[in-house]
Order: sequence, then C-alpha cells, then structure tokens
Amino acid sequence: MTVESAAEYTEHMPEFPTPDAANAVEVQNPYASATPSAAAGPKRVRTRHFQNAKQQGIPITGLTSYDMMTAQIFDQAGIDFLLVGDSAGNNVFGYETTLPVTVDELIPLTRAVARAVTRALVVADMPFGTYETGPSEALHTAVRFMKEAQAHAVKLEGGVRSRKQISRIVSAGIPVMAHIGFTPQSEHGLGGHMIQGRGPGAEQLIKDALAVQDAGAFAVVLEMVPSGIAAEVTERLEIPTIGVGAGPGVDGQLMVWTDFAGMTEGRVPRFVRQYANLRSVLTDAVHAFKEDVDSGAYPGPEHSYE
Ligand code: KIV
Repeated sequence: MTVESAAEYTEHMPEFPTPDAANAVEVQNPYASATPSAAAGPKRVRTRHFQNAKQQGIPITGLTSYDMMTAQIFDQAGIDFLLVGDSAGNNVFGYETTLPVTVDELIPLTRAVARAVTRALVVADMPFGTYETGPSEALHTAVRFMKEAQAHAVKLEGGVRSRKQISRIVSAGIPVMAHIGFTPQSEHGLGGHMIQGRGPGAEQLIKDALAVQDAGAFAVVLEMVPSGIAAEVTERLEIPTIGVGAGPGVDGQLMVWTDFAGMTEGRVPRFVRQYANLRSVLTDAVHAFKEDVDSGAYPGPEHSYE
C-alpha cells in the first residue's frame, strides 16, 4: 500500500499492523480525562508506528514547533511528530546558535506543544550541556522533559559518543530519537555548518547509525548528509531514518517550521523548500494595521461598542 499524503496516513493509522500484533493491541486510555490530549487514545502516534511506517514504506513527517498554535495546526494537518527543537534557541530566544538554550527555557515550550496535540508524537530536544557528562545526567534531563513538560520522547545529538546516554534513558522507559550527521550543538567542533558523511566520513556515519540503533533509539535524524550515504544508512538500519537535508532515500522528513513557512529572515539552507512566505504576509498585515491606525480608518464603528 502506498500512502502519499499526511491526511491519508492519518486515515490509515489505526489499521497499521504491528510487528507483534497479538501483544501490541492498544486500548482506549482508561485514565483519559476531558483534555483532548489525554483522551486521544489509540489514534496517538506511538514509536511502534514509526517502525510500521518504515516496514510499509509510508513516509514519516515531522516539523519543529515551539508553541500551542503551530502545534495545533501541524497536528490537525496530520504531521506525525513535532520536535520542540533546541532551534528554539535561534527561532524563539534569538541566540546566534543553539548552544545557550536551557532546559528551563525549553520546558514551557514543550508543555505548550504537548498540551495542544491529540495525535502527533511530541519529541523534546535535550539542550547542549545537559547530557554529555554521562548517563545519569542524561536520564535526569530526559525525566524532566517527561515529567514537567509531558513530552512523549526526547532527542539528543551524537552517535557512538552518546550511546551510553541513549541506552540509560531507554532503559527507564523513555523513547529516544537520535541525531547524527551535522549536529548543530557541535558546530564549533565541526568547524561550522559542514555536510557530514562525505568520503571517509561515511564510515563514521554508519558506525554512529549502528551505535544509536544498538543503544535502543526508535529513530535517527540524519542532518546534512549526502543522499547516497543517507539511503545506504536507511537500507542498513531497522529503525527509521528521518532526514533534514539528507535527500529522498530516507524514511521520513523533518523541517524547522520557521524555514518551511518562510518566517526566517535571510538565507535558508539549500535543503529547505519554502511552502509559504509568512514573513511577507505578516509584514503586509502589520503595515496595513499601522496605516489604518495612523489614518483613523481603524477602529470603525463595527469594531466599537455602543
Ligand atoms: O532543533 C532542531 O530544530 C533540530 C532539527 C534541525 C533536527 O534539532
């Protein structure tokens, strides 16, 4: 079965066969309350749906989200997972890189996104400096995101170097999305925004991919790697690969929402396709508002109370 759009995918989701159907029957959440999120029940995207999607060749879609409104829109459109990325460092807090962003800054954003969705899997990004010293620190950070922000999974950067952290978090029952290739938290170490996995780097990329799979990650983001090697990694792995600038031969695609919707000022990376130009729409709207106020055209009688 080939499913081409996110909406069709949503329709098909409840019918996904599971790898072990007899043991993976999900019932309506017995603890569901009136909140849409808790009542979502069997239709919520789970990590096993990622696995099924890979097996069936159904593309997985992901977008970053940092707030309730975009989360609602993306969730209702059938996007499978929302990443509360540390790219919030750039796109919400205005830092030059992702390095300064903290867990305390990301928790309220993650909570807003998690509360807004009924279907999408919400992945919280673990910031730089919150997992590198070892498995205990990593678990502590992951638990904060699950407990204080109601995330459904966490993401962290690094392949071989992060395998112990991934394994510890997974053993506590927390799903981990890994992230290899270009890892923005290491941009100074990597010498800038450099494509990874080219030439001799391909061997390291494959080692990293196998290491995160062995450690128990349910999916792996491949950022800025050549299409050929991304397709090879995808072929070799049992877990799905999610591409950000990794070409078409991966199991899913992730984009930073401010890039794909044309909110970002200036140049965007080559791999971004802009599906809208929200920056110019908002700019026009704000100019029109200001002109109307300056000229007295707004508010009119229809906007005023008797
Ligand atoms: O924080 C983020 O947006 C990310 C993606 C670019 C993968 O980590």
